[in-house]
Amino acid sequence: MAVDFRGHPMFPTSGFSAPTRFEADVYDCEVWGDIPSDIDGTFYRMQCDFVYRPPENEWPTGFNGDGHISQFRFRNGSVDYKGRFVQTDRLKAEKAARKRLFGVYRNRLTDDPSVAHLDHSAANTHMYWHHGKLMVLKEDSLPWTVDPHTMETEGVYDFNGQYTATSMSAHPKIDARTGELIAYGYQAKGDLSDDIAVYSFAPNGEKLWEAWIKSPYLGIIHDISITENYVIIPVISRTTSLERLRTGEPMWEWDASLPTMLGVFRRGGDGSDVRWFTGPARNTLHYLNAWEDGDIINMELPVGDSERSPQQIKRWVMNMGSRDDRFGEELINTSNSPLARMDDRYCGLPYRYGYVGNADPAFEWDEEKTGVPAGRATNCYVRFDIHSKETSTFNVGPVSGLQEVCFIPRNDAADEGDGYLFGVASNYEDMVSELVIADATRMEEGPIARVRLPFRLRGGTHGNWMPSSQMPFTS
Ligand SMILES: [Fe+2]
Repeated sequence: MAVDFRGHPMFPTSGFSAPTRFEADVYDCEVWGDIPSDIDGTFYRMQCDFVYRPPENEWPTGFNGDGHISQFRFRNGSVDYKGRFVQTDRLKAEKAARKRLFGVYRNRLTDDPSVAHLDHSAANTHMYWHHGKLMVLKEDSLPWTVDPHTMETEGVYDFNGQYTATSMSAHPKIDARTGELIAYGYQAKGDLSDDIAVYSFAPNGEKLWEAWIKSPYLGIIHDISITENYVIIPVISRTTSLERLRTGEPMWEWDASLPTMLGVFRRGGDGSDVRWFTGPARNTLHYLNAWEDGDIINMELPVGDSERSPQQIKRWVMNMGSRDDRFGEELINTSNSPLARMDDRYCGLPYRYGYVGNADPAFEWDEEKTGVPAGRATNCYVRFDIHSKETSTFNVGPVSGLQEVCFIPRNDAADEGDGYLFGVASNYEDMVSELVIADATRMEEGPIARVRLPFRLRGGTHGNWMPSSQMPFTS
């Protein structure tokens, strides 16, 4: 039977969230504005797409779609685009069968028996570049790698046998001082296991240490934080069970009776020193940064008080010098977004600036041209100073909705915050996607350039910048 998405409750057959399903090359993209020549490198950005129609009861987040990477290569003010699916075992099997074989999100009980033996990664969340590998990540599986230049899919990657956990999250951390990759997996001995595995890999890919910890309950651990001396593993009040999988419920269920628990252990150990700080139920997935101030560990993040509350930027405070195992909380910025980013060269270190999306009603929005109600689309990026709480705001205009922000340093030696903001925007008026670029030191002036693609991309998950100083061009 041919592909037909009509009537599926997850997406309309038209509009920005309809499946796109194609790969593309655009040599020398159309650019409105001027791209500074110091932007030299490659921006990778991921979206979940759907080659085949998912089951009707699929979790409507779309996080079970096929990984599709957009590669934007910048040199001398010009941009070349390449869009490619990650050719996972899963996608190849479904293409061969010409139908969906894998069931609903992270529930193998709903898979077609013919694929039980296959790697089930959708490779659809994030990309990290480390020791010469471009790893494509999905938190329920091992990494896949792709060629960073041609975007050809290579295969499953377990760090040459050094990574024995069964999964690796899409949000490892790279310590810019040491070049270490701190990678982790949860449900790390198979689906629904309560094991957390954390690894450190040197810049050459050799394992430095690994730690195994038991999770206090089966909560989602989508992201972690690091400081100079510690790893922080938040377990939040979104849980799962075999019963949920058996009955076909969505994998994750919000449970306000479960505390938020922050596991802190010393880098370089085996995890046996883990200390759990506790607080009330909180809804969060992504962590901006953490840093030490004497015995105090500070951690900034977008977080909501409940499943439906806005996710605002707050600081969690853990006192390693006190016997009190509760963590504190303080409001930093009221922007409402589950995603915040920083200048990654300060990962784990004291820093000053965070960047976050926001739907700001103070700016003009054109409901007629976009068909999108005011206040629904992210029309701004906000820079906030985590100490003074001062803000700067970039507005993308009245017809575009922004996806995740990414900070690009002006060059390797630039001061913190001296650089550019990148974000893919959905231009609802023209029904095309644009990579929008702002100068992070002059955000109020609006976009300095828009890379106009002659088609639309779906909503993205995450993106990362690889300067050519770290990933040289081959052609
Ligand atoms: Fe994420």
